[in-house]
Amino acid sequence: MSLSDFLSIRDLSVDEIKRLLDLACQVKANPAACASALKGKTLAMIFEKPSLRTRVSFDVGMEQLGGHALYLSPDEIRLGRRESVHDVAKNLERMVQAIMIRTFAHEIVVEMAEHAAIPVINGLTDFSHPCQALADYLTMLEVKGRVAGLKVGFVGDGNNVAHSLMFAGALLGAHVRVATPPGYEPNRDALLWAIRHSIGTGGSCIVGNDPVQAVTDADVVYTDVWASMGQEAEAEKRRRNFAPYQVNAALFARAKPNAIFMHCLPAHRSEEVTAEVIDSPRSVVFQQAENRLHVQKAILLELLAKEVTEAQQVVRHELMPL
Ligand code: CP
Ligand code: NVA
Repeated sequence: MSLSDFLSIRDLSVDEIKRLLDLACQVKANPAACASALKGKTLAMIFEKPSLRTRVSFDVGMEQLGGHALYLSPDEIRLGRRESVHDVAKNLERMVQAIMIRTFAHEIVVEMAEHAAIPVINGLTDFSHPCQALADYLTMLEVKGRVAGLKVGFVGDGNNVAHSLMFAGALLGAHVRVATPPGYEPNRDALLWAIRHSIGTGGSCIVGNDPVQAVTDADVVYTDVWASMGQEAEAEKRRRNFAPYQVNAALFARAKPNAIFMHCLPAHRSEEVTAEVIDSPRSVVFQQAENRLHVQKAILLELLAKEVTEAQQVVRHELMPL
């Protein structure tokens, strides 16, 4: 496998996603084996939205791999306003070995990757959250012992987290059921992609508006915030529209008796999930959060462990005596 960027689960083949999960398991089991794999390498982390897990896990992950991470806040870069995406990419490729970016439009991440000669990692866009999905399926694998054939019921907003969960579920042969209020369904292209890619893996992807249907007999019940970052102005309206989609004890009871509860976090207790469910022994949300660290270390190793970046090769070539 040789990935040049990590922008979307949709860019991965079935073999590639399985190998990344496998590598994450190895890294988690034996962190010492790669303690200096990224010695001397720096990851620039561009944040246009807030973060706890993404920032800490990439920062600590780079350190555990012998490298270094650099936090760039929304106020510093002001992407597209103080400086174009193109120019930011062209500057960073001269100084660091990879870029992680959390932003709004998915196109910004794609544009960054087009212009940067170094790997770009999607740390969440309005459209997708691929690092999260890898951590989610690693967690399911650990707790359930398999992913293929698992029934995953996602209840809430058809958002970035739902999209990536659908994509990875399709590649890994899971049965993903999404229930949203009418008008909040996942993106149509995302759904079609997931359906198409489920065919060869034995998985499936179904979207509807009935939360009970989505979680009935599920192995995993998953939810996320009703108003994502950037949608704060809609929060009140969304609270009204999403009220019947709360994951509470009554809804969770429709899932299998040994079903687990998952949430990418941050969570709003008493909104999308009750404390009774998220704080129950069947909630694996903090294992999920920890797994962000391990899967991202696998992604960083895959992107950075071997090669000298293209930009640096050019620079070295130019400095070589004739
Ligand atoms: N789940 C997740 O991405 O968390 P942060 O927004 O805190 O990074
Ligand atoms: N859907 C949420 C996920 C946060 C990790 C958001 O985009 O705010």
